[in-house]
Amino acid sequence: NTKILKIDPSTIIFDEKTNEVTFTDNETKKVLDEASKLLHESQVVAFPTETVYGLGASSLSSDAVKRIYAAKNRPADNPLISHISSINMIKDVFKTEIPEIYKPLLEKFWPGPLSIVLPVSNECSVSEVVTAGHNTFAVRFPKDKIARALIHISNLPLAAPSANASTKPSPTLASHVFEDLQGKIPLIIDGGQCNVGLESTVVDGTVNPPMLLRPGGISLEDIKKIGNGWENIVLGKKTAGQYEKVRTPGMKYKHYSPSAKVILFENFKDGNEAIIKYALENELDLKKIKFSVVTSKYWDKSVNDADVVIELGKSGDEIQRNLFAALRDSDSHKVDIIFVEGVSEEDEGLAIMNRLSKAASQIITKY
Ligand code: TXA
Ligand code: MG
Repeated sequence: NTKILKIDPSTIIFDEKTNEVTFTDNETKKVLDEASKLLHESQVVAFPTETVYGLGASSLSSDAVKRIYAAKNRPADNPLISHISSINMIKDVFKTEIPEIYKPLLEKFWPGPLSIVLPVSNECSVSEVVTAGHNTFAVRFPKDKIARALIHISNLPLAAPSANASTKPSPTLASHVFEDLQGKIPLIIDGGQCNVGLESTVVDGTVNPPMLLRPGGISLEDIKKIGNGWENIVLGKKTAGQYEKVRTPGMKYKHYSPSAKVILFENFKDGNEAIIKYALENELDLKKIKFSVVTSKYWDKSVNDADVVIELGKSGDEIQRNLFAALRDSDSHKVDIIFVEGVSEEDEGLAIMNRLSKAASQIITKY
């Protein structure tokens, strides 16, 4: 009883000056009205954004937000991002002023795949379930037309984590959401494939120096170029792929994980060499197991004995867009192991390696 309704984003038109929205197709409006009705009844709705599909509920209703945590089986101490459809909502709905440091950043990257941390004011009406009791909240103005129109039509700020079951790779297609949450949510809006493919960058400008809390759709390099203090941005503890390597095996908090074991390789330009090395060290007969190989910049697709080969693409954009789907597709082939070609941690690479190192049970580096 989970409905999937399609929307063609090209039927939605924004007037950037007045922030008004019009529809060239009545069906589009009908789907958004149905979704909006559910949101006002404190229900959850899955919808596309340019990063990944989100599972949305009104940020102003604790009952609604609790349904997000329940559907995803998400730990309640992990706060959520609120999504808005105009910068004015920060003042009008959350009664919060935007600190000066953010202004040039928002000018450049909003609407888009960037989330910022703001102080919660005394009059601020965001539910404590959203902030998980913190005195700050995260907010994002998405660029995706369906996301924007849904927030606009419902006139609600929407708390929305990725619409996957907790621990699974984030969804970049409506079918991924259905796989994980069917029967648990009333509606999925299908807007096709997400263009960015991994989550927004989260920054905190309320601290000095400002901090990168999660690498994502906007690169660290592009944020530094803004200046106004952002050139001094430091990486949060759990931000970099680098940090993940020192973690104790077995103590790993599971995240972005397919059912198969993920083995991530760094600095190996030859996939055969990498996988044979792994097999030798682990006394594994590659002919006896089922495995997939996920390639990016250098690996050739002809890897010996591979059951499935998935090519992500050569550019950072392509790799990040196809990453989560590749992990899910490997699972659908019921492989035991997924061998992944890592990338260097620059530009899109930082966010890609952050997600991959969290998904991986082992990282093997060639020095
Ligand atoms: O691209 C995205 O950001 C997607 C789409 C749906 O918009 N949403 C998303 O939400 O990834 P979620 O809940 O999976 O990730 C929220 C991130 C977490 O890393 C969380 O720790 C951080 O934002 N966060 C939320 N509120 C925060 C706060 N008050 N202070 C610091 N970090 C916060
Ligand atoms: Mg998530």
